[in-house]
Amino acid sequence: MGGKINFRGRSIISINNLSKEEIIYILETAKKIEAMPFKKKSELLKGKVMASLFFEPSTRTRLSFNSAMTRLGGRVIGFSDPMTSSFAKGETLYDTIKMVENYVDVIAIRHPIEGAARLASEATEKPVVNGGDGANQHPTQTLLDLYTIKKAQGKISGLKIAMCGDLKYGRTVHSLAIALSHFNCRLYFISPESLKMPAYYLAELSKRGVMFSEHEKIEEVIDEVDIFYSTRIQKERFPDHAEYEKVKDVYILTKEMLNKVKKNMRIMHPLPRVNEITLSVDSTPHAYYFQQSANGIPVRQAVLSLVLGALK
Ligand code: CP
Repeated sequence: MGGKINFRGRSIISINNLSKEEIIYILETAKKIEAMPFKKKSELLKGKVMASLFFEPSTRTRLSFNSAMTRLGGRVIGFSDPMTSSFAKGETLYDTIKMVENYVDVIAIRHPIEGAARLASEATEKPVVNGGDGANQHPTQTLLDLYTIKKAQGKISGLKIAMCGDLKYGRTVHSLAIALSHFNCRLYFISPESLKMPAYYLAELSKRGVMFSEHEKIEEVIDEVDIFYSTRIQKERFPDHAEYEKVKDVYILTKEMLNKVKKNMRIMHPLPRVNEITLSVDSTPHAYYFQQSANGIPVRQAVLSLVLGALK
C-alpha cells in the first residue's frame, strides 16, 4: 500500500491539501489498523507523546484523539481549557507552539480562529493536526465522515449526499463538500437563506465539475439521497444572537419524515446535536451518527501513525 505517498512529519491542516490518492490511503490505513491484532496495535506509538491543545470546547475530537493515541501505546499531554495555560497570561499561539514542540512528537490543536492551525504548523517542524479552526476546516472529521460513508454504503463514488443546517459556519460541511468532489457525488445543500454554503465553496465545487443544488426544505430531497448529513446551527458562531434565534430550530428531522426514504439511506451528524434530530430517529435503521463518531478512533489512529512514521 502506498507507493510514493509519505506522510511522515507532515501536518494535516486542510482537506484541500490532500489528493484523492492520499485520502484513500488514510482510509485504507484506518481499515488496516482496525483489523490489527491488539498487541501490535497497542505498541505502534510506544514512546511517542501527543500534545492535545484545545482552545475551544470539544468532546469527540479531543477525546478520540486522546484515546487513539493512548490505545496505540502513546501518551498525551495538554489542556482542554486554555485558561489553565499561559494563554491566560497573554502568551501568543506562536510562543505556545515553540514551547510545546520541545515536549512532544505531534500536536493536535483546536482553535476558534480560522487559520490558527496553519499558523501553528508554520511555527514548528513537528506535525500539527487540525482539530478544527473556527468556521474553516476540520480535516480529521472529514476523513472519518468519508470512512463512515464507505462503511455504510460500501462505496463513496457516485452517491447522492445531502448536507443540511448551518452550511455557512459549518466547517465539517465545508471540508466534506470539497473532499467529495474527488468522488463524483451529487450534492444537495439544504439551509435557510442566511446560512447558505459560502459562495467561495460553491465556486470551487463548480470549478471541480461537481453537480449540486440548493434547497430550503428537507422534504425536497430526503427521499432521493443515500446519505443525509445533518448539522447543528452553531450558536457560538453568530455575531448577532437575534439572527440565531430566527433559525435555531429551522430543521428538525423526525421519524415520520423517513417513511419514503431509500432503504439503505443513512443519517450522519458530526455531533453534538441540539434539536436537529429527534430521539425517535435513533432507533431507526437509518441512524448512523453514533457509529460515525466511533470511527473517529481508527481514522485518527491512522493519521497519527502516518505523520509519526509508525506506518507507511
Ligand atoms: N464532531 C466534533 O467535532 O465534535 P466535538 O466538537 O465534540 O469535538
